[in-house]
Amino acid sequence: MKIITDPRRWKETMYEVRESGASIGFVPTMGALHQGHLSLIRMAKEQSGAVAVSIFVNPTQFNDPKDLRAYPSTLETDQEALRSLGVEYLFLPSYEALYPDGYTYSIEEHEISRRFCGASRPGHFTGVLTVVMKLLLLTGADRAYFGEKDWQQYRLIEGMCEAFFLDTKIIPAPLIREASGLALSSRNMLLSEEDRALAPSFHAILSSGKPVEQIISDLEQAGFIVDYVQQWEDRLLGAVMLSHVRLIDNVRIRT
Ligand code: PAF
Repeated sequence: MKIITDPRRWKETMYEVRESGASIGFVPTMGALHQGHLSLIRMAKEQSGAVAVSIFVNPTQFNDPKDLRAYPSTLETDQEALRSLGVEYLFLPSYEALYPDGYTYSIEEHEISRRFCGASRPGHFTGVLTVVMKLLLLTGADRAYFGEKDWQQYRLIEGMCEAFFLDTKIIPAPLIREASGLALSSRNMLLSEEDRALAPSFHAILSSGKPVEQIISDLEQAGFIVDYVQQWEDRLLGAVMLSHVRLIDNVRIRT
């Protein structure tokens, strides 16, 4: 696996890969890889000639500096997992390299990004869209893969690519759950033992089919601090806090 830290070098390398005739499947991540990420990489592997992954904990998408400091990092094991899946290219940029402008330029969406997670995390999606735009422009991938766990993020990225006529096709990948129903997330490793035991009830209650008001009340009763539970299109989206750890999930609404 070729590891590249310099954005210009990455851009040149990706150009060479495309010139060689191989299609590129790209999986952007913030590391602390779990089976959800690995399923995206497996999808990319099946559908593309070469697989490129980035690991970059993007500070501009964290509205809370404590959340950024606490974000898990498991770079060594991440690299082992990527090697064992046969990933060819890994991009590991620094903040200075990826933001030569010091984040004076950004990509902003003015509607959906302000709802749901965006309402309680101001600036979060501007940070996400900005870094994803940079990564997509640098990689020039044929396909880029995003997990459906963060449904709002996936839809915003898909919308951004349409709005700016980017050539990369955005592929959503199914949310992966533990046997308990808990959606896999890098943040799960930050949960205390007690909160870990409670966390699976989030999905159980969210998918109960009850009215939204009842779901919110059941979640609060179970011990979650509810940020929101709201229907959007054919999904019921939710975000809750367990101590200082934020969990998000979504389920398709049965019609
Ligand atoms: O979903 C994530 O891990 C991040 O938001 C992403 C898409 C890699 C951008 O930093």
